[in-house]
Amino acid sequence: MIEYKAELKKILLLTEFDHLEAQINSITQFIIEKDLASFFVDSIYLKSVLRLVIDEHWLQSQKSSEIHFERFIKKFFNAELKPLLFLHSFFLSSNIEGMQTAVKAISQIEKLILNCIKSKTSEFQKTFLQISLQMMSELYELEHQLNSAENIDEGKAKLSLYRSFDVLDEIFELEYQLNEVPSILQKERLFEGAGVGVQSSYATTLLALRYLNLSKGSRFIDLGSGYGRIGLVVGLMRPDIQFTGYEFVESRVDIANKASAHLHLDQHVHFVTQDLASADFKIPAADTYYIFDSFTDASYAIIMEQLQAMSLHRRITIATKGNAKLWMNNKYWSAPQEFSDSNLCFFRSTARPSAE
Ligand SMILES: C[S@@+](CC[C@H](N)C(=O)[O-])C[C@H]1O[C@@H](n2cnc3c(N)ncnc32)[C@H](O)[C@@H]1O
Repeated sequence: MIEYKAELKKILLLTEFDHLEAQINSITQFIIEKDLASFFVDSIYLKSVLRLVIDEHWLQSQKSSEIHFERFIKKFFNAELKPLLFLHSFFLSSNIEGMQTAVKAISQIEKLILNCIKSKTSEFQKTFLQISLQMMSELYELEHQLNSAENIDEGKAKLSLYRSFDVLDEIFELEYQLNEVPSILQKERLFEGAGVGVQSSYATTLLALRYLNLSKGSRFIDLGSGYGRIGLVVGLMRPDIQFTGYEFVESRVDIANKASAHLHLDQHVHFVTQDLASADFKIPAADTYYIFDSFTDASYAIIMEQLQAMSLHRRITIATKGNAKLWMNNKYWSAPQEFSDSNLCFFRSTARPSAE
């Protein structure tokens, strides 16, 4: 058994955490990337599952005064707890109070692991991130399946991983300096003050990557790339893809390019400062475009006209998040492939390309 699993079980049974930092440091001191990634992802996933179990227990206690705890827990082992089978004995021997204490312990573990990762070399961080993203992708897929229409049981608590892994931003050093946006740029929808909510979540990004089936060596453009999360994730998971993100706000582009260079992704992941609606700019050809609620109506009109013209002679896929889908004219694009839990849609060009 990998050391962190045994240690995590011990930590979950603690009632006070005076020595937690020393314990975590001793586990992580000589740990390899793969084990640190598993420790990190398992811990964060565990926190979400514990919250789910606590919520569901509360819901059931409103309907019935007697809950058979073992039976109650065992149901989760057929679904949400499958990836955490090594914690079987903890869950069966614990109770709701113990789980509430465990949530606090994990919040501290999360911070300590982050500090550990930040102190490692960029090569270590890169491998750590690649493995973590792969594991996260599997967990999001599990969540996607469990919460899909046919499996959902109304009135039951639902697993929610949507923002659970946002702490990864700290490793990428994506600092949301939104107040730096000059007021002259406010004519665009620059989402000042909206913070993390205006970036696609890691959940959406990994779901998109899993289902887009990007061809090897293809080109991917993020139209309005913000702080670069999409490009950094694509770059780490798909070294064969040529990625470009265009973004109006220079400070966001700088942050994204710095992260790309730090992780040695800058051979294939680039962020460029550009007003996409500017009259002298032509959107370059690519195979996949991503648009998340980026533009004013006037800018959308200019950008969509270019994408539509391109769709007539090139097979392209547009992935939209949020309201961007409302701009997709069915004269040019297929009916959307929809992922309602992430408000994500894929549209493919319908015209038979005359030349590719
Ligand atoms: C909602 S954010 C999406 C960021 C990123 N694509 C994601 O999904 O995480 C939209 C971004 O589009 C940028 N934007 C708005 N108008 C633009 C324009 N005309 N040209 C380039 N970028 C623009 C905004 O500054 C903002 O950072």
